[in-house]
Amino acid sequence: MLKDQDRIFTNIYGMHDRSLKGAMARGHWDGTAAILANGRDWIIEQVKASGLRGRGGAGFPTGLKWSFMPKQSDGRPAYLVINADESEPGTCKDREVMRHDPHTLIEGALIAGFAMGACAAYIYIRGEYVREKEALQRAIDECYDAGLIGKNACKSGYDFNVYLHHGAGAYICGEETALLESLEGKKGMPRMKPPFPAGSGLYGCPTTVNNVESIAVVPTILRRGADWYASFGRPNNTGVKLFAMSGHVNTPCVIEESMSISMKELIEKHGGGVRGGWSNLKAVIPGGASCPVIPAHLCEDAIMDYDGMRDLKSSFGTACLIVMDQQTDVIKAIWRLSKFFKHESCGQCTPCREGTSWMMRVMDRLVRGEAEIEEIDMLFDVTKQVEGHTICALGDAAAWPIQGLIRHYREEIEDRIKARKTGRMGAMAAE
Ligand code: NAI
Ligand code: SF4
Repeated sequence: MLKDQDRIFTNIYGMHDRSLKGAMARGHWDGTAAILANGRDWIIEQVKASGLRGRGGAGFPTGLKWSFMPKQSDGRPAYLVINADESEPGTCKDREVMRHDPHTLIEGALIAGFAMGACAAYIYIRGEYVREKEALQRAIDECYDAGLIGKNACKSGYDFNVYLHHGAGAYICGEETALLESLEGKKGMPRMKPPFPAGSGLYGCPTTVNNVESIAVVPTILRRGADWYASFGRPNNTGVKLFAMSGHVNTPCVIEESMSISMKELIEKHGGGVRGGWSNLKAVIPGGASCPVIPAHLCEDAIMDYDGMRDLKSSFGTACLIVMDQQTDVIKAIWRLSKFFKHESCGQCTPCREGTSWMMRVMDRLVRGEAEIEEIDMLFDVTKQVEGHTICALGDAAAWPIQGLIRHYREEIEDRIKARKTGRMGAMAAE
């Protein structure tokens, strides 16, 4: 279990003063100017050495991403964009950072922005996060007043502005290029990649888009050292991480823990255990809605990191677990996600627009037991037609939960269809 002295987020539950004064008393904004004085390359090398990987869900190496930004300006300004549009169902970790520990994010933005030669950071915050927006704006104002950001930030000679932009509630605007479109005042529709944002991002300028948590951990990594950070977890999966737990646990929570902790320890020690005990566990969605469901028998030894989840044909995602007990209708749970992805598809590309509708219509029948047995394989086939054939990851996100359902719960789906045919099924749960 992570010791208190190794926690980066010291106010995640809002027990302490979240103002600048309180943040400084807890060690934030300590020696920031000295960190900047080490230079851009040093910062990027340290972040690379720490092994930090993007905490928004995709796990792309953070230092490597920063190194894609141009070393010399070609006349275009460069930007850091912070993705605070946390909208993945079951995911609620960045929210705690922004409302209770906002200075970790602003200090991180300054250091990251400096490392990539950015003149400003735009924080794109989810429309529903109203209190978080207020808390963050208060913290930004405090930093301007104290000379920590703005002109000659921290007396470093470097000018850096931070702007907060409030989204309007579209899930797709969390996709990095849709977010950039939205920030530019256009309809939030994903762009084709490449070019990646480092080549052409906000207003066609070099841009790096990072998740809130990825940026907020950077100052502590640089103060305590890349080796310290890399000493947690295991190779390729280093560091500490915010995990969230919701669903059928006794104490839903957000908790900072070491990477590669076992799923069982996480649920038992921090989530207060599964409602009704571990033997009552049916399944876990390990990292937000797009990650394939993991059945109970595989959860016993599951390791919570990128490789551990990949080995179970799922993904680590945002590390926000949705725990389901034996009483859960898992088919209905995945049907509900299908409905969500169908609703949130921007409709721009055919495999996603048509595929999400198609998948949802078959799921509608499956959940009521009204489908034919052959449709299970056909549905799996449709998910394969969507996966990897779309402009952005929403298509994959819609396909993967269904693949996980069919992989692990085929028998349950078949039983429901047979029960319907033989008239054994009572009123079905789906409405
Ligand atoms: P991605 O793998 O396409 O990209 C990840 C990052 O790496 C991006 O910033 C991208 O620009 C960069 N990148 C990837 N390949 C690159 C290359 N060859 N050169 C330069 N840069 C490169 O994944 P994406 O679409 O950004 O994120 C998908 C994930 O987001 C999903 O797996 C899901 O877990 C997560 N997600 C999180 C949400 C949340 O609320 N936190 C909401 C929805 C999805
Ligand atoms: Fe839009 Fe879906 Fe295509 Fe993404 S995959 S661009 S959400 S239609």
